Amino acid sequence: MAFPNQQATVYNDTVVRQFAIMTVVWGVVGMLVGVIIAAQLAWPELNLGIPWLSYGRLRPLHTNAVIFAFGGCGLFASAYYVVQRTCQVRLFGDKLAAFTFWGWQLVILAAAVSLPLGYTQGKEYAELEWPIDILITLVWVSFAVVFFGTVGTRKVKHIYVANWFFGAFILAVAILHLVNSAAIPAGFMKSYSAYAGVQDAMVQWWYGHNAVGFFLTAGFLGMMYYFIPKQAGRPVYSYRLSIVHFWALIFTYMWAGPHHLHYTALPDWTQSVGMVFSLILLAPSWGGMINGIMTLSGAWHKLRDDPILRFLIVSLSFYGMSTFEGPMMSIKTVNALSHYTDWTVGHVHSGALGWVGLVTMGSMYYLIPRLFGQKQMFSVKAIELHFWVATIGIVIYIAAMWIAGVMQGLMWRAINPDGTLTYTFVESVKATYPFYVLRLLGGLLYLSGMLIMLWNTLKTATAGRATTVTIPTVAAHA
Ligand code: HEM
Ligand code: HEM
Repeated sequence: MAFPNQQATVYNDTVVRQFAIMTVVWGVVGMLVGVIIAAQLAWPELNLGIPWLSYGRLRPLHTNAVIFAFGGCGLFASAYYVVQRTCQVRLFGDKLAAFTFWGWQLVILAAAVSLPLGYTQGKEYAELEWPIDILITLVWVSFAVVFFGTVGTRKVKHIYVANWFFGAFILAVAILHLVNSAAIPAGFMKSYSAYAGVQDAMVQWWYGHNAVGFFLTAGFLGMMYYFIPKQAGRPVYSYRLSIVHFWALIFTYMWAGPHHLHYTALPDWTQSVGMVFSLILLAPSWGGMINGIMTLSGAWHKLRDDPILRFLIVSLSFYGMSTFEGPMMSIKTVNALSHYTDWTVGHVHSGALGWVGLVTMGSMYYLIPRLFGQKQMFSVKAIELHFWVATIGIVIYIAAMWIAGVMQGLMWRAINPDGTLTYTFVESVKATYPFYVLRLLGGLLYLSGMLIMLWNTLKTATAGRATTVTIPTVAAHA
């Protein structure tokens, strides 16, 4: 890129490149483990009698790999790319940024070894034992220093809204991790939570829900606010709405955690507070979705022949769907049916595959060619194929889980006129079997899409070369 008045400094894209490549690699690994556990649910013998391969150990490996390795690397890559472009300054602290990359990979490797070995704190999405938690803290503090250091040394006065979302994600995840992981070590790789009983449960689900709100949502909204306008070549639909969206979303998320603990020992009023805030959450969530989708107004035709834009926009429709479904499931009477069933798993994956997965893939398809000095990915047809395979996979996955979930809920509550249960539990398991096979098919399709992406990424990376982009001193091009 030739700009007049170029400065000597260049963006630090080395770390962005590393994270972008690892996003794709960990995506394949995490989804492969997802497919394996999906197959185990249909055919339990597939654990082969080996403890390391048992469902209970591979399931947290799957969730950690897709959320923190695939999603996490995507978030690091895009936050580092976006903050430099929108602040028009090189990333703060080269060595620290490199440490965040290698440190995060080490966390992932430690998880990949320790979880199959059975080391766990038993807290969902916070399973990793205390030595790994300490490493996470070090990496995360460094991430915060690099990110906010870059914002602090920016060359433009304004802080673009995507950075607000990335910033909130970094700060909130730091607080969540520190509070929820507080534990008393009882030897190497063994600890006990600092909280007990219902307080422990509340802290865990305050963490769990905000892991959804900040790890799986706020950072990805940062991606949305940068990559959709860029790819569509249009400004954000309403900048004012984006600010309202930001404050409303981060305020509301914090209070919704108790909806994970309906009908438990948690005081009833706390459950009701969780439910009310979850219902309110529909408004900012949809405000953000509408802002993203309407950015296309006047350019809808681009959806016809731009598969990257399609990834980004369809991700928003899944975001809208899961943030409508979530508030409904938080209503106590609805939750009485959905809780413990595969409906929850369907909800999770409409958010995870549809929103988190597609928005990450779209953003990486935007980034990867630029990071390797190419105009576009090696094969645009392959992006197109990936889009369709993934979308069909998601629809099969979530439809199977919804049907299975509602069926399970209804079977469990069905009673005969004399008050006895109509079905035994095992009958509901048997009835679920075909849906588990269908879910596996959906997962296989989604994984094949990811393999196509891996091939396309390697082709693009080897055809191109690592580029250095100089920082323009002329008109902002955020
Ligand atoms: C090929 C794609 C995938 C397949 C086949 C798959 C499969 C599965 C399976 C079988 C479970 C266990 C469900 C149960 O315990 O009943 C699960 C749980 C989970 N997966 Fe996936 N998954 C995939 C992709 C993803 C992605 C991309 C994400 C996140 C970005 C994700 C996030 C989760 C979460 C959060 C859970 C725990 C859900 C809960 O506790 O309710 N998955 N997945
Ligand atoms: C307005 C937004 C949302 C609300 C109010 C909401 C609400 C809920 C509710 C009520 C549950 C079921 C709790 C239970 O019965 O155990 C749930 C589970 C879950 N949701 Fe959402 N949801 C929202 C958006 C999302 C999004 C966008 C994602 C993913 C990106 C997501 C990921 C999850 C996960 C991972 C779980 C399972 C937690 C577990 O039990 O392990 N949610 N959500």
